[in-house]
Amino acid sequence: MPTVNVTGTQWGDEGKGKIVDYLAQQAETVVRYGGGSNAGHTVAVNGEEYKLRLLPSGILYKGTHNVIANGVAFDPEVVLQEMDAMKARGIDVSGIRISNRAHVVMPYHRIMDGVGDEKRGKNKIGTTKRGIGPCYMDKANRIGIRVCDFIDKEEFARRLKENIEIKNHELQEIYDHEPLDYEAVLAEYEGYADRLRPYVCDTIALINREIDEGRKILFEGAQATMLDIDYGTYPYVTASHPVSGGITVGAGVAPKRIDTVVGVVKAYCTRVGAGPFPTEQLNDIGDKLREAGHEYGTVTGRPRRTGWLDACVVRYAAQLSGLDYLAITRLDILDAFDEIKVCTGYKYKGEILDEIPASLKVLAEVEPVYETFPGWNQSITKIRKYDDLPEKCRKYLERIADFTGVPLGIVSVGPNRDETIVIAEDMF
Ligand code: GDP
Ligand code: IMO
Ligand code: MG
Repeated sequence: MPTVNVTGTQWGDEGKGKIVDYLAQQAETVVRYGGGSNAGHTVAVNGEEYKLRLLPSGILYKGTHNVIANGVAFDPEVVLQEMDAMKARGIDVSGIRISNRAHVVMPYHRIMDGVGDEKRGKNKIGTTKRGIGPCYMDKANRIGIRVCDFIDKEEFARRLKENIEIKNHELQEIYDHEPLDYEAVLAEYEGYADRLRPYVCDTIALINREIDEGRKILFEGAQATMLDIDYGTYPYVTASHPVSGGITVGAGVAPKRIDTVVGVVKAYCTRVGAGPFPTEQLNDIGDKLREAGHEYGTVTGRPRRTGWLDACVVRYAAQLSGLDYLAITRLDILDAFDEIKVCTGYKYKGEILDEIPASLKVLAEVEPVYETFPGWNQSITKIRKYDDLPEKCRKYLERIADFTGVPLGIVSVGPNRDETIVIAEDMF
């Protein structure tokens, strides 16, 4: 059963897209199991950049199945835009499969996400405004529209009518927003449905059959552990389950069928949006990390908050997702730092905490305990063998592996597919 999961261990944007694209050389199917167009996964091949939001990052390989599974908040408009953009660049999109059980992001979800988050004032989460939270809210409230209903003309018209009545009331009364026109939304979405119908299927049956047949399946995580609605810094989180357990409910695959879990770890740390970030550097170091790493959001263009690597967070991710390997990315961004720090403990009221605190009040007050490493002060982007990395660099990596109890599997030294050092050759 060669199934591999790539999951984010921090606050997102670790380079999951790059690692998925790298491993997808071997995979036959790539599956997105959660989140939606809030994700922005960048893949670079021969200097060409591809920014993916809903399409799985296996799309660049001809013949690969690229599955959008039931756990995804499915935005038909975004998917069609992405498919058109891919086709225009000569990429074959015929391998896309869309779950008939995924929930559809509607225009009112996007409006409510944008206006709703602003209305929170100083408590705003800083969402991506892509309608993700409101789409999952409707799913939990059992009024969501699933893909199987979206592609059924009569059913969609009926469900949309019911929903628009409720949503227009809310838009006007709660969100101070003008109502949406039923006929206009219907016509727009019928157009999307006509184009997407051929790609829709029962992806649960498809994925499980493929696992039975021994096909190599890669599960592409979106967002990350600390943005997980249960395990992250709630309420400053997304509305889904990025951890490896998210595959079970998000793709209909039993836990025991997931063989290998790879946690992607950015060599330092970033966060977009609000919420606690113990190792944040609101100083010259943070600015240097942002500039060296061009840390601006793929989806929203917002400057990312920056700080040192928090190994406590990675260890938590290892526990939650059962990490088998670490894939450390963006190590090259630290090339020009004289000193590099890693947080290996949280001090609270004079005591070292054993766990990541649930209370944001506590998390906001913890004092990170740092270990300091000397920088290697040389470019590592052209290195392809682990043993050729500078010793200082290896020491840094080995401390992360040692602290988290997870071996190094991949080290990424640049955005391009070939700028990758593989330590564990046997992930599939
Ligand atoms: P994701 O959301 O986890 O897929 O990450 P993003 O794509 O949002 O952000 C990661 C960024 O880092 C992208 O621009 C990647 O092309 C880039 N990237 C990935 N790995 C490396 C690396 O090892 N070095 C450098 N310099 N860039 C990388
Ligand atoms: P990838 O897959 C980084 C953050 C948002 C916000 C919070 C809630 O590219 O790593 P949402 O729109 O999901 O309701 O926003 O979660 N967020 C991400 N941050 N990378 C992502 O995805 C993110 N997806 C959501 O910035 O703080
Ligand atoms: Mg991203």
